[in-house]
Amino acid sequence: MELNRRTLIAGAAAAGLTAAAAGGTAHASGGRKPVKELFGTLADGTKVYRWSLQNGGTRMKVLSYGGIVQSLEVPDRRGRYANVSLGFDNLDDYVASSPYFGALIGRYGNRIGKGRFTLDGTAYQLSVNDGENSLHGGAQGFDKRVWDVEPFTEGPDVGLRLYYTSADGEMGYPGTLKVKVTYTLTRNGDWRIDYRATTDKPTVVNLTSHVYWNLAGESSGTIYDHELSIEASRFTPVDKGLIPTGEPARVAGTPFDFRRAKPIGRDIRTAHQQLLYGKGFDHNWVLDKGITHRPELAATLRDPSSGRTLRISTNEPGLQFYSGNFLDGTLVGTGGNVYRQGDGLCLETQHFPDSPNQPSFPSTVLRPGETYRTTTVHSFGS
Ligand code: GLA
Repeated sequence: MELNRRTLIAGAAAAGLTAAAAGGTAHASGGRKPVKELFGTLADGTKVYRWSLQNGGTRMKVLSYGGIVQSLEVPDRRGRYANVSLGFDNLDDYVASSPYFGALIGRYGNRIGKGRFTLDGTAYQLSVNDGENSLHGGAQGFDKRVWDVEPFTEGPDVGLRLYYTSADGEMGYPGTLKVKVTYTLTRNGDWRIDYRATTDKPTVVNLTSHVYWNLAGESSGTIYDHELSIEASRFTPVDKGLIPTGEPARVAGTPFDFRRAKPIGRDIRTAHQQLLYGKGFDHNWVLDKGITHRPELAATLRDPSSGRTLRISTNEPGLQFYSGNFLDGTLVGTGGNVYRQGDGLCLETQHFPDSPNQPSFPSTVLRPGETYRTTTVHSFGS
């Protein structure tokens, strides 16, 4: 049953629960101000803070390190809360061994082949950190930077503004890139991300968020029973280094067809060359809607056991669906349990991987005087 969030809060109130017990806030008059606490200290003495915010029945915890969503709690069909994002309970693990849990990704989400590209006739060599390729911005991407965080409440919204300035040449990228990312929790409990960036030299940018979702709750097992639909008729096949070949392929008749919702596990063990390369799903889907002015539906995820749903809308043209293939039982998550393969999945809204080397893909070039603007909205239900 689809139960909308306001019905749920009303139901909780009718059952004699306070708004706080239901995880809600005084949504009529807007949410409460985010609360800050010390989370840890980096080796160089920099303090890392954790912000807690809630609105419309969604609760989240965000770190100043990497803009990391450390926890995101939403209710199931009976109003029971669970943390539906994978993470760690301490800063050291994020610094030492995080596979981008919950983090902001930049300057470039996903891979750039051989970490090289040419722009306006100049060749650039980026930090290479994934075989011969550059992944998620290089060895010290935005996921490993400390962001300046400013809380806000605005009308019915509650949120955080995160700021980071990436120096000219950082990780090999040209231009001083000034980045502002806004996390907003709306009165309906949606989590909206607005990305903005400007540069003082021509450069490339592709920002995204790397939350690992498990709508049954982190540490509850694999996501293979989750049902996923993706609004895409094509995806971008990759080579064995997971760099797109450049020719989008039709999903029809392949395991990559998520046009109608299906359990993630249904086709994941098919002996398809692309699934062998990715050790599962780890591909960019070409959203049928293309680049849009406003966010439009890209994917819907549903966990039948809890009833929790997640709808992702974006104005971006692509979606990387990664089925947590590289989780291998070596990391201990927030709740004290080990994460194994498939225990979480990522749905990363983006421009396509390796676009700086693929003339037929939508451009990721940003020039002085322009503003990079993209928005992704996560809507929860149960
Ligand atoms: C992305 C990539 C994957 C993997 C994860 C992080 O989703 O596409 O190949 O690198 O990030 O482990």
